[in-house]
Amino acid sequence: MTRPTRPRKTTQGSSATGPGLHDDHPVVIITGAGRGIGRATAELFARKGARVVLCARTGRELRAACSTIQAGGGEAVARVLDIGSVRQARALVGLALRRYGRVDVLINNAGILGPRVPLARYPHRAWKQVLRINLTGTFTVTQEAARVMARQRNGCIITVSSSVGRTGRAGWGAYAVSKFGVEGLSQVLADELRPDGVCVITFNPGGTRTRMRAQAYPREDRRTLRDPSVAARALLHLAARSSTAISGRAFDLANLPR
Ligand SMILES: NC(=O)c1ccc[n+]([C@@H]2O[C@H](COP(=O)([O-])OP(=O)(O)OC[C@H]3O[C@@H](n4cnc5c(N)ncnc54)[C@H](OP(=O)(O)O)[C@@H]3O)[C@@H](O)[C@H]2O)c1
Repeated sequence: MTRPTRPRKTTQGSSATGPGLHDDHPVVIITGAGRGIGRATAELFARKGARVVLCARTGRELRAACSTIQAGGGEAVARVLDIGSVRQARALVGLALRRYGRVDVLINNAGILGPRVPLARYPHRAWKQVLRINLTGTFTVTQEAARVMARQRNGCIITVSSSVGRTGRAGWGAYAVSKFGVEGLSQVLADELRPDGVCVITFNPGGTRTRMRAQAYPREDRRTLRDPSVAARALLHLAARSSTAISGRAFDLANLPR
């Protein structure tokens, strides 16, 4: 799974600019890259010449993502791990550093939905699990990557958020609270790291055809939803446009920077 291959030359300017993308082959960590938005993002960044460092808990899916990238001439390393474990989350950034010596972009994509029940009936155990992965796991990977980027005086951290992490809605429980949490985390960190030239932003992809969406809306017609490649292209665009001028902001598909 960790077989390195020679990266292809970047073909479009979109990956060559911005403080997060220091050269044609930036080192990009993407959490939750086994399926859905994370996988589409990993494949797109790798096609554009990035060296991608991936994780997920399901080995079969992660291996498939890695193989697809390598078969297309891209470079990927991957590690099966749970970002909810402090040790394992730190190991992900350690893997990127050992392999490539730097981290240019972190995309915090991994997340779980948890039960769609009102807070009054929300199980305590599920509450802890959702916050452990979506908020604390994101914090741990971010903290580790942020230290590296501050030393480099360069980098970009994009956390995948949600509309329910910006306006509360009934029935979204710990998931919504965790997304409010990552919005706050990003704002605080953006303010702290602006002097170091690190850009910290969030992105809400909107309804996207993935397993999580199907879990959230089991009766929905999946054909009406956007393909994960749409979110992937937006994340590539954000990484390419990243700068301290936009640091601290919250983006979605309708308000991407020019
Ligand atoms: N799809 C939508 O409509 C939508 C809308 C708004 C926001 N989002 C956000 O977009 C992001 C991606 O969601 P998605 O829809 O693509 O979901 P998905 O298809 O369920 O994919 C989630 C990915 O995260 C991984 N993951 C989950 N928990 C993990 C953990 N503890 N450690 C490492 N990896 C973990 C999963 O793999 P394993 O289960 O194997 O670990 C999987 O690869 C999430 O942050 C979600 O909140 C999605």
